[in-house]
Order: sequence, then structure tokens, then C-alpha cells
Amino acid sequence: MCKQTYTGRLLRGVLAALLLICGLAVPAVAQTPRERLNIDKDWRFAYGHADEAQRDFGYGLRPFFFAKAGYGDGPANPDFSDVSWRKVDLPHDWAVELPFDQRGNTNHGSKAIGHPFPENSVGWYRKTLTIPASDKGRRISLEFDGVYRNSVVWINGHYLGTEPSGYSGFRYDITDYVNFGGENLIAVRADATVEEGWYYEGAGIYRHVWLTKTDPLHVAQWGTFVRSTIEGANARLDIDLTVQNAFKSEQGFTIRHEVVDARGQVVAQTTQADRSVNAVSDGVFAATLTLSEAHLWSLEDPYLYTLRTSLLRDGQVVDRYDTRFGVRTVTFDPDKGFFLNGKAVKLQGTNNHQDHAGVGVALPDGLQTWRLKQLKSFGVNAYRASHHPPTPELLDEADRLGMLVIDEHRMMGTSPEITHQLERLIRRDRNHPSVILWSVGNEEWALEWKDIGTHLALEMQDFVRRLDPTRRTTVATSGSGKGTSVGADVIGFNYGAQHDVDGFHAQHPEKPAIMTEEGSTLTTRGIYFDDSARVHLNAYDRQGRPGSSLSIEEGWTRVMARPWMSGMFVWTGFDYRGETTPFGWPAISSQFGMVDTTGVLKDTAYYLKSVWTDQPMVHILPHWNWAGRKGQPIDVRVYSNGDAVELFLNGKSLGRQAMPRYSHLRWRVPYAPGTLTARAYQKGRQIAVQSVSTTAAPAAVVARPDKTALKADGSDISVVWVQVTDKKGRPVPTADNRIDFEVSGPIRLIGMGNGDPGSHEVDRPAERHRYVSLSNWRSLAIDDLTDTSRAVAETADTTNWRDPAQWLPPEAQPPLTKGLVLRGEFARPVISAGEQAVLFVGQLAPDQHLYVNGQAVTAQAMDGAWVIRLDASQLKDRNSLSYVMPTPAAGVQALYDQSVGGSRWGSLRVTTPAAPWQRRLFNGWAQVIVQSTGERGRGQLRLVSSGLTAATVDFQAE
Ligand code: GAL
Repeated sequence: MCKQTYTGRLLRGVLAALLLICGLAVPAVAQTPRERLNIDKDWRFAYGHADEAQRDFGYGLRPFFFAKAGYGDGPANPDFSDVSWRKVDLPHDWAVELPFDQRGNTNHGSKAIGHPFPENSVGWYRKTLTIPASDKGRRISLEFDGVYRNSVVWINGHYLGTEPSGYSGFRYDITDYVNFGGENLIAVRADATVEEGWYYEGAGIYRHVWLTKTDPLHVAQWGTFVRSTIEGANARLDIDLTVQNAFKSEQGFTIRHEVVDARGQVVAQTTQADRSVNAVSDGVFAATLTLSEAHLWSLEDPYLYTLRTSLLRDGQVVDRYDTRFGVRTVTFDPDKGFFLNGKAVKLQGTNNHQDHAGVGVALPDGLQTWRLKQLKSFGVNAYRASHHPPTPELLDEADRLGMLVIDEHRMMGTSPEITHQLERLIRRDRNHPSVILWSVGNEEWALEWKDIGTHLALEMQDFVRRLDPTRRTTVATSGSGKGTSVGADVIGFNYGAQHDVDGFHAQHPEKPAIMTEEGSTLTTRGIYFDDSARVHLNAYDRQGRPGSSLSIEEGWTRVMARPWMSGMFVWTGFDYRGETTPFGWPAISSQFGMVDTTGVLKDTAYYLKSVWTDQPMVHILPHWNWAGRKGQPIDVRVYSNGDAVELFLNGKSLGRQAMPRYSHLRWRVPYAPGTLTARAYQKGRQIAVQSVSTTAAPAAVVARPDKTALKADGSDISVVWVQVTDKKGRPVPTADNRIDFEVSGPIRLIGMGNGDPGSHEVDRPAERHRYVSLSNWRSLAIDDLTDTSRAVAETADTTNWRDPAQWLPPEAQPPLTKGLVLRGEFARPVISAGEQAVLFVGQLAPDQHLYVNGQAVTAQAMDGAWVIRLDASQLKDRNSLSYVMPTPAAGVQALYDQSVGGSRWGSLRVTTPAAPWQRRLFNGWAQVIVQSTGERGRGQLRLVSSGLTAATVDFQAE
């Protein structure tokens, strides 16, 4: 039962012997159960530089930087001063704050990031953590849910590791480096120069970060696996539990598993006494439980249980670990398609990237939920996390809401690094009932037709199966018949028109099949006539790439004609930045979505609603504001789940038509202002009615928040729709008014958008800092502190002064004098109109005096730092900052120890203020996202637009 690694045992044996020899005891262990603390708040952020170390805060320049342990340099050094850096809360995506730039990669949404922009492609994050002395003896870990990308993490100047993937969660056990009872400095450097995907990916710590504290004897990270087998009305649960023993001695313990139902009642339990794990080893322990009258997890009733696992040592609970799971069966049948709990379900899926208007990839949890609900609103029951692992909260929410998920690994391959990423994905996600299928590749063009494709697919599937025997695996392919498609356990067809789908099925009757992608239709929300100059494409469902992809309607019709086809995942649910097909610049986002980047439903979403839901509905397109087209025929289409629809213009019937299956109805209507009404019928009875009316000019701003009661947790959000209405209160579908947003009280704005694939307006205004380094530091020992005018004068010749950063052995230190002049220089910063330059200075000695260019200056407190505000007109090409102060006891060396590259002596920051929060409506819609700041109280959002009645929304944060 109990597995352990030989090397671990050997190493720990040696350590234990050493401890004995040195007479050291294993530290006393705090008997507190596990804590998992979210540490998203209060980080500092600054741009580094991808090419120039000097502009990367000198990172890596220190001698022995990577040669000696604990030699972290620049911002990785705990002594480095980050007081001038921006304060940010996570999740944070710095790319979304950058401007659009034609030199940027259109596939990534033309943000100014990547190779041509080294100054925007490296981001630094720092955070100070206090870890109490009472934690001594516990294991302390840092867990990152995802950092884009190539993150290097340091703790207290010690290098922890590098994670190249921008999507894999990773963890560092920092126990050995922790300063218990004091401050600890986490530094993260992310480099987003090189891309992983071919769509907008953001940049930075865009997912949560956690601090986990456990007893040395604890459940391993993702250390439980619950499998259920339905046996009549009951379910058998097979549980694998991995216990980690970080003690340097063998540990005995008792395992207690309790299954808690949704009401909090314990409905099954088992206890296993006298278990043990050897010193510094892992052990895997199996248990079986019966769940009577198991309540199944389904789409209609996503019922969840919690497995509460406790480890007890000497009768005391030393760890408690909760695993949420659901009891359900999933089957991919090669002849009959997909089954959930034995019931046939067609997968009505969409593909989605993690990207939303305004916030980029940094989605607050509430926005994940909101997006899933938005998809559900038109009948989506399945989500493909293309083409990367989703964030854990998305899966939590899919479990809660009843949404099936294809969970996708980023890169096909079997190298140790790739395999480790795949392993982490499966271990992390295998208890989620929402996850129905693993995907290990997507359109692997170099492999699709080759034997190596088959081989890698088989190898990866084998690896997956060993970690999770309960689910199957797919590879989404753009070409089938050979390569990956043959190896795939479940064949994933990307775009029916690219494959001989029926031929493949005939040749491989044993393989279940799924349309992993279909559609890629190109529609701009609210546009009904193509306008390439503005990168807008009409919203009538048509083939996006004639010959290789189908319209949404054709795609679904084909799926419904094949009972063996498990379902279809539309490319895509949400529009996303990048992949601007068929346009290049100035387009910045894709148009494949059923909803735009803000989540407004496009007309195709209503088509899906008509074939994917039973909620009686009818939808007319287009809108009816066609000034200038009087008498011209307009292509009117109607979607409905009724069996017939009658259309009326200004009360006059334009005829009743029977609704063809999985299709739409069409009228050509000469335009006349007024009202177009569609009445849908089922067996002659009206089931739904919709009208579109010609509106008058905009008169008032209206705002529709998703909710107004917020949790005062600094994370909860409200998604606010913004429209304008005419004097009769009707939303104007063509409006493009500019709206200004202002907030007061304990709320903030975190992003805005309008779904226009050609808009270059700001997504998320943020102030930007540039740094000018102070250099050429020199120090002069003086005995007379009363007359220093010559030493601080602009003209002072410092040639023979000392380099204060030069390290000297103690015996070579110059004799102590009474005082010291420390002087650094800086070039004239470029300061544009509206920008502000501030010199950050240190508190190097209590009675220090400061001089800029020989003039005495006084530092002022600003946000916890000491600064000198610079008047641009008084700066010269070369400028000096001088400190005059009593010499510290340890001489110049003491000053050097306080400073990393002079970061505490002085740093010049030029700030470009954030752009205003304002956005135009696009075809009548915009969106702004409001977030709690963490404080309680009443907040207000005010929406103002020139010439229109303003709107206000009151929020209550509790
Ligand atoms: C597919 C690909 C998707 C997306 C889509 C656009 O080939 O898998 O990621 O690029 O095309 O049509």
C-alpha cells in the first residue's frame, strides 16, 4: 500500500543521521490543520525589459548571480526597493493595458507586446508576506494557478524555479527558505515575448496565487482521486489518497474519509487506522465506500458531494482536505454518441479561450461564472477549453452549473517537461464531474498525416489512462485518415468539410466521434451589410471559409443526421482578441463567436437557442433602423423553436411559413420604418412573439447591472450592460455614443468593451511608469558636515570619490569619518505634457540632507515612500542627487547593503496618467465591469454622455 521513493529515503536517512549527530531535534509541529490562503492582494508591478539588463532593473548583472544560492539580484533581491512600483491586485493581465500597435501580432490582438516591444514584454511582480513564528514546523507552499509565461520565481533572494508554460499550475515548497516570524519577499519575473498560442494570451500573473500551510504529514497537492461506479441505486466510491510525510522519521496515522452531501450531512464514512509512511516519502492508500441512494450529477441537477479526508496522528486531526466530486457516468459510444448517466445527450458545445473584453485573460471568478451562464442562456451544455488548461475556478463553476467540459492540454509531446504539465492537469482536474474528456492535441499539422502522430497520440493516451482510467482522450484534428486521428481514442473532427467524416466512421467503426470544432463563421454583432473598411461582416450565418467550414446551421444539421456523432463544439462561444480572420490590421479581435467579446448574443446564438433549447422563442434579424434604405429589400430572417412563424410589418401580415427543421425562415421585406413583428406558433398556438421597431435618436443612457449587491471581498464583480434609449425608452441598435464612466465609494472599474472587432479604444486604463536609473554613484568621506556646498555643487568633480557599490573586505574599509556625501546622476528624462516626474529617495540616515543639482530640496511622503517632485523645466541634460549625512557605523558598506544597484538611494519615475474611463457604444451596446474594492458601503457608478440623460447605478458592498 505504502509507496516510497528510494532516493528520498536515502537522502532523508542521511539527513536524519546528521540531525542526530548535530544533536538537533525535529522542530515541534504546530497541530493546526491545513490553511489555504489566497494571496492575490497587494502586489507591486513594474515593466522590466526583455533585452537590456539595465532596463530590467539590473537583473542578472550581479557577479555570481546565478552561481551562488540566495544571490537573487535586482528585484529578486529582498533588499531591492519597489516603493516606486505600481500596486496591483491579482489576477492581472498587463497586456490588456497596452495600446494596440500595427507592429504587434494580429493573431494576438495587435497589442504592443512580443519581440518588437522588449520594454512591454517582461513584467515583474513582488509581494511581501509575513509568516508568523507559530508556523515554524509546518510545510509552507506557494501555488500559482497560472502565469503567462516563462515565470521565474524567487523567495527571499533564493531561486525556486522556472515554469515555461503559461497555463499549467505550479507549486513551490518554500519551507526551507521561509523567514518565520518575519517578512518574506516573493519576486516573479514573467516574460511574454514568445507566444504559446495563436490567439490573445495576455501576460502576467493572470490567475490566483495561494499560500498553503500544512502539517509535515499531509495530503499531497491534488492528492485525492474519487471514482464512482453506479451499482443499482447506490454508488461504490474508490478513493486513492496520496499522503506526504515530510518528517524525517516514519509517521503512523489514521485516515478518515467522510462523504458529505449537499446539505452538509455525512452520508458515508470509513476509517483506516495504523497506516504509516516512511520518512520523507509519499504513500498511496486506497479505500472503498458505498454511497446509498446516490444522488447523481447531471446537467439539470448538478449535485455535488464533498469527500472530507482527515489525517489523525495520536487522535488529533493534523490535516483535513476536501474534494468535491459528483457521481455520474459518461460514455462515448461509437454507434450512438454521448451518454450521461446512461441518457443520450447531444453535446451542444462551444470552444472558448480565457479572454474577455476589458480584462483580457485576468478573469475574476465571478466573470467565469457569468460567462458560463451567458453560454447556457442559449442552450450550450458543453465547453471545450481550447487550447489550454482552464483555470480551476472555471471547472468548479462548470461542476456547479452543470456544464460538460473537454479539458485540453497545451502541447502534444512526451518530453519530461510536457509530460509533467499533462500530469499536473490530470491530477488537478480528475475529480471534476464536469470533465468528460481529455484532449491532448489540436490540429497538430506536423503530425496529422504521419506515423509519429499516431504514436504520440497513443503514448499520451496511455499516460492519461494510467492517471485516470475513467475518461477517454481525444485529439482534435484538421485532417483524418492517418496520423493523430488514427491514434485518438475519440476522434475529434475540426470542421466537417475538411474530412470524410462518414468514410472515417466506416473505416474506424470502433471510434467514438465528436465535432471538436465547427463553424468559424464570421459575423460582427449588429452588422447586416459587410463593411470591410471597418472590418465588419454581416451577421447572417454563412460559411466562414467556403470549402473547409460550414455555417452553424449546416454544421448542426449534419450532426443531427448522424446519431453516432456525439455533438458539436462551435468555434467559438465568445469572440476573443486576435485571429482577426479574414482581416489584418486594424482588426483586433476574432468574429467567430456566438457572442461578442463582451458577451452580447449575436444572431447565430439565437439560432442555437432555437435548436438547443425548448424555451419558446422567436428572434428576428436584422434591427429595423434603416434610414436611407426606404423601399429597398431587407433580408429578414427568423429563428424559432415553433413549427411556424408569421411576420408582420406595421400590423400587415407578410405571410406565415412553416419552420424547416434545424433551420430558419426568410423574408425579403421592402424597408418602411415602423415595427416588424414575428409570431411563432406550435401546432397553431402562439408560443412566442418578438418585435423590432425603428427608433428615434438616442435620448438617455441606461445601465443594466448583472447585480447591485456585491460581496465586499475585493473580488466580486457586476457586469454592467450599457445602452442608450430613444425618448420612448427603446434601445437604439445603431447608437455609437461615447459614454464616460465615473465611480465613487467602495467599487472600482476593471475593464470595458463594446465588441467592435475594429475598436482601438482603451480596454483597461492604467497609469504607466517609466524609470530613469540613477547611476555613477560616488561617495565622499567628510569630517565637516556644516559646509558641504562644494561637495553638493553641480560642478563638483567626483573623479576621485569612491564607488560606494564596490565591495571591500573589512580590513580595507577606509577609516570612519563624521559624514558622507553620496551622489548619483541622472539624465534628463523625456517628460511629455501631462506626465509627472518624481524622484524616489531613501531614508539612509535620520538627519540626512538632500540636494538636486546643488539646490537643497525636501522630500515629501507619498503613498508610504519619500519623494521629490521634479519640475521638468529645471532639469538639465545631466542632473545630480546628493545626500549629506552622518556616516553609518559600518561605513559606506552599510549603505551598500541597504541597496541593490542603488534602488534605495534613488529612482526616477515618470508617470503617464491613465486614460479616462470612457467607451463608445458599438451598435447600441457597451459593457463595463465593476468590482468591489474590499471595503464595505455604498458605491455609485455614473454613466454620462454628451446631450443625453445620464444614468446612475447604486451598489451595496457587504
Ligand atoms: C482552427 C483552430 C482554432 C482556430 C480556428 C479558426 O483550425 O483549431 O484554434 O484557429 O481554426 O478558424
